[in-house]
Amino acid sequence: MLTICVFLVLIILIFLAYLDTKKPNNFPPGPKWFPIIGCAWQFHKLQLKTGLIAKASEELALKYGSLVGVRIGCSRIVFVYGLRATQELLTRDDLQNRPDGVFYTSRTWGKRRGLMFVDSEFWREQKQFVLKQIGFSKEKMAHSIGKEVQCIIDDIKREVKDGKGEGLFEMSDLFGVPILSALWTLMVGDEYAKDVKEMEALEVIVKDLFGNTRMIGALFQHFPFLRYICPKYCGYNEYKTVDKMKTTYNSNTTRGFIDSYLHEQLAAIGLDLLFAGYETTSKILSLSFLYLLLHPVIKKKAQEEIDKIVGRNRLPTLDDRPLLYYIEAILLEATRLFVGSALALPRMTVADCNFNGLGKRRCIGESLAKAHMFLICTALLHTFNFEAIPTDPPVVAFRDGFVPSVGPFRGKITLR
Ligand code: HEM
Repeated sequence: MLTICVFLVLIILIFLAYLDTKKPNNFPPGPKWFPIIGCAWQFHKLQLKTGLIAKASEELALKYGSLVGVRIGCSRIVFVYGLRATQELLTRDDLQNRPDGVFYTSRTWGKRRGLMFVDSEFWREQKQFVLKQIGFSKEKMAHSIGKEVQCIIDDIKREVKDGKGEGLFEMSDLFGVPILSALWTLMVGDEYAKDVKEMEALEVIVKDLFGNTRMIGALFQHFPFLRYICPKYCGYNEYKTVDKMKTTYNSNTTRGFIDSYLHEQLAAIGLDLLFAGYETTSKILSLSFLYLLLHPVIKKKAQEEIDKIVGRNRLPTLDDRPLLYYIEAILLEATRLFVGSALALPRMTVADCNFNGLGKRRCIGESLAKAHMFLICTALLHTFNFEAIPTDPPVVAFRDGFVPSVGPFRGKITLR
């Protein structure tokens, strides 16, 4: 009897495993699926070979076409490749919703909250609310970054002085905390500004979170059971750390369901703005300085232009922006490299896609990011000289994260 039962269970398991390899009707072409893991193994191998998710998906697209269907664990994912397909994805009304699941909700206490990963009427209302309430005016943007710019300059000056006139800096680390602080101040106002130590602690949390997340999600999303077996390895612990950030909002004042709901939604929007703004702006800024280290002639021209338009006795302001052609061009090139590497479209231009998205889900922080990048880049070029270190030359090598970034690189900074 026992043998028959075991045999039957085995048959059922084999049948279920077989069903797990079947693709849904009309699912785009892609690699073969295995039970439980889908095509995670093949994709992992491609990622190791190419070094980037965008490159791995490009290889698949060259084999299967501009739409590729894969399954990583329990997540079905469709990659879109090429300019036309990307434009269509960004602008088609029926493709504007966002995925659901543990990965998207564990950031926001198990519920669908915030702005980036919500849909439909709720998303529309929240987006309008944020745009209306935050309203990135020129004065607000200049104010939120002004204090940070002075802090970066003072910190660099101190180290340059300690280094007897020159400092060797890890450049990819320079901009995270100032950008995070500026976004924080913009959201909560000067009254609730946090000190550098608190901001550094916040950056550690955000960095850990992004470090364990890829554009196609985190490991615990594709294999949810890993949350219980190895929560640290699969990246789940970092998401739970975000829980702690919720305590920033005073729960003692929560009077009931509506208050508690509002607190959660407000905190979730705050997290979305911090995350979306921090990761992109700070990474593009470090990429801009990598570009400047690699192109000293362009750097010199940008500095000469700043000297001519702004003069040596004041820092540049947003009013100088239309006249500083080189800075705009450098930041645009860095943004193009950044977005191009995320989409595996190295030659895309602003006219093709706009680097801050197209259509209804378009970025709300475009003007803010551009203002912050402009003010930091011009102030630093105005005050310092940046050079590559001959024994440790920088290289442009992207690596994966929630969005791609360049690896660590060092530069020599001296006072001008
Ligand atoms: C240069 C820096 C930035 C780049 C390249 C960038 C890029 C993008 C892109 C391409 C999208 C569209 C994503 C999609 O279609 O799903 C987007 C959405 C978004 N961005 Fe940005 N972004 C930047 C800075 C910022 C900043 C500073 C903030 C906030 C202060 C921000 C907040 C958001 C939000 C909330 C969304 C989601 C909008 C929605 O779902 O409707 N971004 N961003």
